[in-house]
Amino acid sequence: MAGQALPGAVEQLDAIRSGYTFDAAALELGAALDGESAHADAPVRVPLSTLNRHGLVAGATGTGKTKTLQAMAEQLSAQGVPVFLADIKGDLSGLTEPGADNPKVSERAASVGQEWTPTASPVEFLSLGGQGKGVPIRATVTSFGPTLLSKVLGLNSTQESSLGLVFHYADAHGLALLDLKDLREVIMFLTSDEGKDELKAIGGLSKQTAGVILRELTTFANQGADVFFGEPEFDTAELLRTAQDGHGIISCLELADVQDRPQLFSTFLMWLLADLFQDLPEVGDAEKPKLVFFFDEAHLLFNDASKEFLDSIEQTVRLIRSKGVGIFFVTQSPKDVLNWSPVVGLV
Ligand SMILES: Nc1ncnc2c1ncn2[C@@H]1O[C@H](COP(=O)(O)OP(=O)(O)OP(=O)(O)O)[C@@H](O)[C@H]1O
Ligand SMILES: [Mg+2]
Repeated sequence: MAGQALPGAVEQLDAIRSGYTFDAAALELGAALDGESAHADAPVRVPLSTLNRHGLVAGATGTGKTKTLQAMAEQLSAQGVPVFLADIKGDLSGLTEPGADNPKVSERAASVGQEWTPTASPVEFLSLGGQGKGVPIRATVTSFGPTLLSKVLGLNSTQESSLGLVFHYADAHGLALLDLKDLREVIMFLTSDEGKDELKAIGGLSKQTAGVILRELTTFANQGADVFFGEPEFDTAELLRTAQDGHGIISCLELADVQDRPQLFSTFLMWLLADLFQDLPEVGDAEKPKLVFFFDEAHLLFNDASKEFLDSIEQTVRLIRSKGVGIFFVTQSPKDVLNWSPVVGLV
């Protein structure tokens, strides 16, 4: 019954109260609920030092997942931690504006023992391949490399080593592989009559396999992936910046039309995580993370991704934790995202 203490509630509230009394810097998520009344003296908090984990924010539609994400992102930014958000519904653009002074919001904040001041966070918008208003994110085919490209294209191991030979050939002959067209042209040359001696000289690369790779590349480009490849290449260090006032920059990637082109997003994510992983030093246990990712509507982002692909994303997500990068998935269908048990589960 509303307002009436539930059986065992006093003990549970005590346990919550004592469990969250640590002194370290933390994100304030809310307060314990007993029936319908919130207990401001039993706050629920997550220490900043544990946010280099992978976590899950789950709940039915309209339960406040996006708001939770927003509150976490704003608090991280205020404590000097840069944040990366993938925004599929355009829900998050409001972060750039201080919230309206709404008595309902202040009331709700007070009930969980928080003081609410409308503030704006430093937000920068990004877009995949320059579609949309944000700063375009692109990578060159060379920096993407044959291994990652093979994973994204779903190539088998023979095809993967063949693609490696094509990259090697291009490198040895000073042919720049900036966009997908460059790569397709090299393969087209090698499979043409003029290129047949060159193909022979490479050894280990059959005309047939090269033809299969070429077809895969054409499909991939037609799915819209070509916009992501080219110059100037995006420097992932941009995501790790703080503003002059010490706030972490919130980089917000707009993904309004990504549902039609899920492969584009997966490709980008693979590259981004691999690039950060390569550049960042090991940090061990740090006071706060270097960067925290939030993927809202995460179940939509991995539509149609293959099992191998999800496995390799999963592996990178696990490894990147030791570099101080945390990743949160936000979804109403957690089972569709990945088969993980959350380290920090906020349900
Ligand atoms: N802590 C809160 N205080 C006040 N209002 C809230 C709070 N959390 C959520 N709301 C309100 O509830 C509504 C739904 O919240 P939100 O958009 O975050 O849900 P969601 O779980 O992301 O939904 P969906 O799955 O449809 O994306 C919003 O109008 C939001 O303003
Ligand atoms: Mg939402």
